[in-house]
Amino acid sequence: MTAQPTEALSGTVHLPGDKSISHRALMLGALAVGETSIDGLLEGEDVLCTAAAMRALGAEIERDNAGRWHVWGRGVGALAEPENIIDMGNSGTGARLLLGMLASHPITAVLTGDASLRGRPMARVTDPLSACGAEFIARDGGRLPLTVIGARDPLPLDYRLPVPSAQVKSAVLLAGLNAPGDTRVIEIEPTRDHSERMLAYFGAELRHRKIALDGRPASEIILKGQPELTARPVQVPADPSSAAFPLVAALLLPGSEVRLVGVGMNPQRTGLLTTLQDMGADIRIENAREEGGEPIADLLVRSSRLQGVEVPAERAPSMIDEYPILAMAAATAEGRTVMKGLGELRVKESDRLATVARGLALCGVQVEEGPDSLSVEGVKGRPPGGNDQPIQTELDHRIAMSFLVLGLASERAVQIDDAEPIATSFPDFTALMRGLGAKLADG
Ligand code: S3P
Repeated sequence: MTAQPTEALSGTVHLPGDKSISHRALMLGALAVGETSIDGLLEGEDVLCTAAAMRALGAEIERDNAGRWHVWGRGVGALAEPENIIDMGNSGTGARLLLGMLASHPITAVLTGDASLRGRPMARVTDPLSACGAEFIARDGGRLPLTVIGARDPLPLDYRLPVPSAQVKSAVLLAGLNAPGDTRVIEIEPTRDHSERMLAYFGAELRHRKIALDGRPASEIILKGQPELTARPVQVPADPSSAAFPLVAALLLPGSEVRLVGVGMNPQRTGLLTTLQDMGADIRIENAREEGGEPIADLLVRSSRLQGVEVPAERAPSMIDEYPILAMAAATAEGRTVMKGLGELRVKESDRLATVARGLALCGVQVEEGPDSLSVEGVKGRPPGGNDQPIQTELDHRIAMSFLVLGLASERAVQIDDAEPIATSFPDFTALMRGLGAKLADG
């Protein structure tokens, strides 16, 4: 697919449902007793893999005509052994959270995924989950395909996160659901708390406490094991990580005005908004409200001249998926943008530090890739674009969408090698962007 230089974008858009919340709604629905109805579920490939996995574990799941999903759960501890290998596609969140659920069920399951997921580290969840009594047989480096033999008499877990990761935190909490007593997770840097919010909403008992750890503030999350989860209706907000693409495109294309409706504003997801506002972006947050235990708002975005900034490492967890698109905004800004504390980007759907740096260089932007940092020299206007080889997206949806946005804002078109992975998180990306006026051409 090729993105051609585009003038202004305008319109109002409804974005797809939040991917993190969609996975969790299906998983907790499968562990709850009764019928969970889900409105606004993201119908992207990642979430469809989770739906298929929950069916394989015995939950009943249906989609009705209105696009609403219904899950009839089996209750905590009552998942059935799957008859076949479970394929989680491209989804790290789906795979890691699922391992948490399986670890404390007395069943054996085999998980696999696509080439990107098979290359991603799973030891970060299998190590802590082993302590509940589960066994894991993985490929070298703790990679998929992987067999999990769940614990017959699971023990509660007590784990301090060595990396800021909501996936690891959630895997431990999901395992703790079927263990007697208290499961405790300590995190030093706060990460998205969708699991905690939804667990409490479904009736689990959770306590949060601020503590000091080696003289640093940390938080402790304690889950009381073996609750009865009660099915509840879930309204999934629009995904702020998907909103980021039309949002940044509108900022970069002079004369644009775009309204994004009902976007998730969980404080652990809004780091990109803070950073763009620091860069001088005109983003108005309107109609702030709460839906299904999550804050949401409409965003009114007008094109803006951006200045390079330094993005502090502490902000990384609240915008961990947004660095590729921020790097595109940085390429058009005045001055240099320095992003620090990005080690985790190396283990996403692709090594995002490398894929972003290589792609920007191909588009004529000066970029420096450090072991866990990225500096982008802004050109104050349209970057050259016109890459002579297509951008290698490496099965990474966010790399694909980021470079397409860059192409809209460049002097010359930008071509990517493969737009298919976009369907994992944002199946209507091309149609939605074209509806706003973006020039995206097949091929
Ligand atoms: C997610 C957590 C983040 C994020 C991912 C979704 C989640 O991963 O990058 O896209 O839903 O918990 P990590 O927990 O590995 O940082």
